[in-house]
Amino acid sequence: MSSSFPSQKGKVTGLILAAGKGTRMKSNLPKCLHKVCGIPMAKLVADQMMAAGVHEVILVVGHGGEQLVSTLGSGYKYAWQLEQLGTGHAVQCAMKELGDIHGTIVIACGDTPLISTEYFRNFINSHLESNKVCSVSVAQLPNAHGYGRVVIEDDNAIRIVEQKDATTEELQIPFANAGMYCVDAQWLTQALNGLNNNNKSGEYYLTDIIKNFSDNGNPANAFISTDSSILMGVNDRLHLAEANQILKDSINRKWMTEGVTIVDPNNTYIGPFVTIGQDTVIEPGTHLLGQTSIGFNCVIGPNTRMIDVKVGNDCNIFSTQADVCSIGNNVKIGPFANIRPKSILGDDVKIGNFVEVNRSQLANGVKASHLTYLGDSTVGEETNIGAGTITCNFDGFQKHQTSIGKDAFVGSNSTLVAPLTIGDGTVIGAGSVITEDVPENALALGRARQVTKLEYASLRRKQKAQES
Ligand code: UD1
Ligand code: MG
Repeated sequence: MSSSFPSQKGKVTGLILAAGKGTRMKSNLPKCLHKVCGIPMAKLVADQMMAAGVHEVILVVGHGGEQLVSTLGSGYKYAWQLEQLGTGHAVQCAMKELGDIHGTIVIACGDTPLISTEYFRNFINSHLESNKVCSVSVAQLPNAHGYGRVVIEDDNAIRIVEQKDATTEELQIPFANAGMYCVDAQWLTQALNGLNNNNKSGEYYLTDIIKNFSDNGNPANAFISTDSSILMGVNDRLHLAEANQILKDSINRKWMTEGVTIVDPNNTYIGPFVTIGQDTVIEPGTHLLGQTSIGFNCVIGPNTRMIDVKVGNDCNIFSTQADVCSIGNNVKIGPFANIRPKSILGDDVKIGNFVEVNRSQLANGVKASHLTYLGDSTVGEETNIGAGTITCNFDGFQKHQTSIGKDAFVGSNSTLVAPLTIGDGTVIGAGSVITEDVPENALALGRARQVTKLEYASLRRKQKAQES
């Protein structure tokens, strides 16, 4: 993505610190991979930075680094901090990777998941306009407990003192360090060379660069915000729950102001990258995650969970699980349906209770209303799949395809043994086991012929009565 910032200032490179263990989380999962509204915290920060217009994002990884790289993927660069010696050391590792870089480095922590694109943009712009060597993002809080305190003189940040190292007097300072900085790359490299670990934690603190700049006649620009919530750093599970609540509320509020009805916002979970059309109603217990997009006039839920699903307009999807699939317009699904990855449902499709669709394409108007499994199959327009139909796609070794034509009628309790092609307009008799292809407009039956013995039941009853 090209920078949206004035070009004479050089490029703006994003750097996210995500190498720490996150001891206070008490977790085997690296802290920055813990999710807020379904997205790992480090990814939230990285994507907001990208959206703000930085040239590229580099994540510093270390503890659980392989897991971070494999989860977040190849959209970002990575720098390794093999030993976690503090936030200053983390930036040293990144700068080594970046080499002789010019321009502005914007630094954020991977554990501050609530920072918005807008905040990043305003912060970076304020820095570029200030013509200072460094800017630091500050939250003015009634209680700054747990954060580093920013000492401000004449509107400039002159040093930062960590909670652990602060005097009683310094602990009264209401200015919390939000852990975000914009720094001139060349000045940053110089200041990092001067860091030491003479503090209570024995760590190389990034925060010490502020004093270094100030001592050299370049006090930092203090970018002060009173909206503390978006700057919060997640250090333990209580913070994580708080961050989830804050982001969830703000996402729900946003969609309600856009014309979406959310019946019970406390019980509705919408990810930050989801989109929803006007006049759609979201019923309680609904989770919309990943890159899910929902059209207009839909009713989603109650109790529906969708990840990376594209839904058209006028759909009704309740008590359903759907992943990585596409759903057309005027589709009805549920209750208790499971639409699995690589499935494509056309318009006017109906999927009823206890139906699973897996890697299958259902054309417009297909109906599978009850108790069905459609796997590795294609179904043509307006075909009706009877209750209890199963595509046997797996022979114990391999998966095979089932192709069912348009305007077909598959009778209830049919077993379709793949690979199989069933032509347009066919009728499959109920209870059939179909193992051979069926040409178009044929009737196929694959079951034992019925035997009816007249009066047999009453004869048997009489026999039993005589015996006793
Ligand atoms: C840090 C700041 C503090 C600020 C707070 C804001 C320092 C010394 N302190 O404290 O002033 O108020 O953030 O949330 O910078 N990390 C590494 N490598 C390391 C250590 C940490 O990559 O060696 C990463 C962590 O993964 C985390 C971030 O840096 O994402 C911040 O580390 P953390 O331990 O949470 O610092 P805080 O104590 O919150
Ligand atoms: Mg932190």
